[in-house]
Amino acid sequence: MKLPEPLQQAIAAAADSIPAPALAHAAAGLGRAYAGASPPSFASPESRIAYLVARLPAIFAVNCWILSELARLRPEIEVRSVLDLGCGPGTATLAADEIFGPLQTATMADNDPGWTRMRARVMAGAAPQLAAVSRSAIADLRRPGRFEQHDLVILSYALGEMDSASATGLVERAWACARHAMVIVEPGTPRGFRTIVAARAALIDARADIVAPCPHTGQCPLTRGKDWCHFDAQVERTRRHQRTKAGSLSYEIEKFSYVIAAPAEAAKDPGPARIIKHPLKKSGHVILDLCTAGGAIERVIISKRDQDSYRLARAARWGEIWSPPEGEMK
Ligand SMILES: C[S@@+](CC[C@H](N)C(=O)[O-])C[C@H]1O[C@@H](n2cnc3c(N)ncnc32)[C@H](O)[C@@H]1O
Repeated sequence: MKLPEPLQQAIAAAADSIPAPALAHAAAGLGRAYAGASPPSFASPESRIAYLVARLPAIFAVNCWILSELARLRPEIEVRSVLDLGCGPGTATLAADEIFGPLQTATMADNDPGWTRMRARVMAGAAPQLAAVSRSAIADLRRPGRFEQHDLVILSYALGEMDSASATGLVERAWACARHAMVIVEPGTPRGFRTIVAARAALIDARADIVAPCPHTGQCPLTRGKDWCHFDAQVERTRRHQRTKAGSLSYEIEKFSYVIAAPAEAAKDPGPARIIKHPLKKSGHVILDLCTAGGAIERVIISKRDQDSYRLARAARWGEIWSPPEGEMK
């Protein structure tokens, strides 16, 4: 995807306020923090601007990907209000406005007051209408505290920064605020996956329905092996992004793990399977790795002889639902 032009311009305006070498230095610091698995520190304005340039575009694309999936799987859900917990610059709120907007209310909470002004500035430039209906709260989300109910609650790249007991408590409290749906997203690493698995278990204990990616509410079959459930999203890179991250590709791929939960619906079909790896498209057949409604990992081979399934399998992409035509193979 391409970042919306106004958002791109708002990021550029923030980046223009510091010299390019300071930006590259701060971006390298962020990169080191992520590589070391310790949460990045946003102690300086430079580090926050580096996040806008180097991380926000990919995380925005990831949130748009996930929220489009929610919109597709639950078209009846209307999202008018969003609660963005551990919001940083409001990446997830901007994505929710892009997919479901115009939002009528957005509440963004973070324990780092340094983000408040930066977020207001970015939002005023990128989405003035959203800025006008947004509220900010400074809150340590590890501590008990309640927010009002919102249609959609999002925890984007924030839960993994907390210890596991605090994270579970936060998932339970956040779920209590979710009128129609809740999204949790983490980096697509084994660590990010473990955070999602624990959050998913807490949501199931709270009687939530898992909308995606799992087609079942049983134990995650990938917790028993070396693999981890993750997907990817692509975003076009601006030249500044390339320079700041010293990258040469015109796009960036961000891997992520996620879960979408919604209040349980009566007698809901658990749904078909999810494609959990890049389909292997060979000559005469396609290999799909699936997480199935029965809660198992299965590899299916779809031959050219199953014409309709084969045509669908050729077009299938990692992360999508696999739903072959009736009568043909699963
Ligand atoms: C990696 S940033 C993600 C920001 C944003 N959600 C996004 O997706 O771009 C993690 C955010 O979580 C916030 N955070 C971490 N621990 C927190 C806590 N205990 N209470 C509130 N916010 C917290 C940080 O201040 C930071 O803004």
